[in-house]
Amino acid sequence: MSFRIAQISDTHLSRARPFFDGNFPPLAKALRAARPELVIHTGDLALDGADSDDDLNHGVEAMNSLGLDWLAVPGNHDVGDDAVLAGKQPITPERLARWERCVGPLGFYRDIPGWRIVGLDTQGFSANPAHREFLAEAIRGAGDRRVALFQHKPITEEALADNAVNYWPLLPNSRAELLAMFDGRRPALVASGHVHQQRDRVADGIRQIWAPAIGFIVGDAFQKPVGHKLLGWVEHEFHEDGRHEARLHAMEHLVLHDIGRIPRAYGALAPLA
Ligand SMILES: [Fe+2]
Ligand SMILES: [Fe+2]
Repeated sequence: MSFRIAQISDTHLSRARPFFDGNFPPLAKALRAARPELVIHTGDLALDGADSDDDLNHGVEAMNSLGLDWLAVPGNHDVGDDAVLAGKQPITPERLARWERCVGPLGFYRDIPGWRIVGLDTQGFSANPAHREFLAEAIRGAGDRRVALFQHKPITEEALADNAVNYWPLLPNSRAELLAMFDGRRPALVASGHVHQQRDRVADGIRQIWAPAIGFIVGDAFQKPVGHKLLGWVEHEFHEDGRHEARLHAMEHLVLHDIGRIPRAYGALAPLA
């Protein structure tokens, strides 16, 4: 017996500014054909959910159009980002409340045979006691089940011991607090989005899967290649005996937008030196 979850990420949808909406219908068609038991969106559902109810509402309408059971965790473009990285959109109680009002809970867990699937809002993790309490409770109640985390940002870019403050992975203090809650254990899987690159590796005893985006990539002139710059989704298969398999579904017929060439979406990006 197994349970299949389709992980999608970084759709960046907007009714008012639909730069990337054209990639959603082909994705929806593929998901309906694949018929997973659950779809999990790992954040950046909306182009500007941090400031627009309508962008989030539009993202929810798109997800509902799948006709599939779905859950989502927020990304930095849905609720803002950590103060040290935020620029114009820091995480605030108002932004978190907007997500809860328009989309749903900031975190969730669901038990399937052999596993507890935990959706975690990693945006502002260390600043928000409610986030930490939620994760502690989710881990405590998992019992013998293996724990799979679905979250927006990767747990790290390279190693858990990394100390640099970097825009792409979890901040070091959030990572340390998250891992401490496992009390010497480890999550078996961390499935994330945000980087707009696909990657699948085991490091520090954790399977770390980065889902590719649906909306766009960040071209090499603006972002160091760490994984693969493509668009698509990831099919996870969880088995009762604790095994887990993941399959990449690259979607080569989507439009491979490069956000660095579309300054009208988020403003001009700084080219890499
Ligand atoms: Fe994104
Ligand atoms: Fe993001």
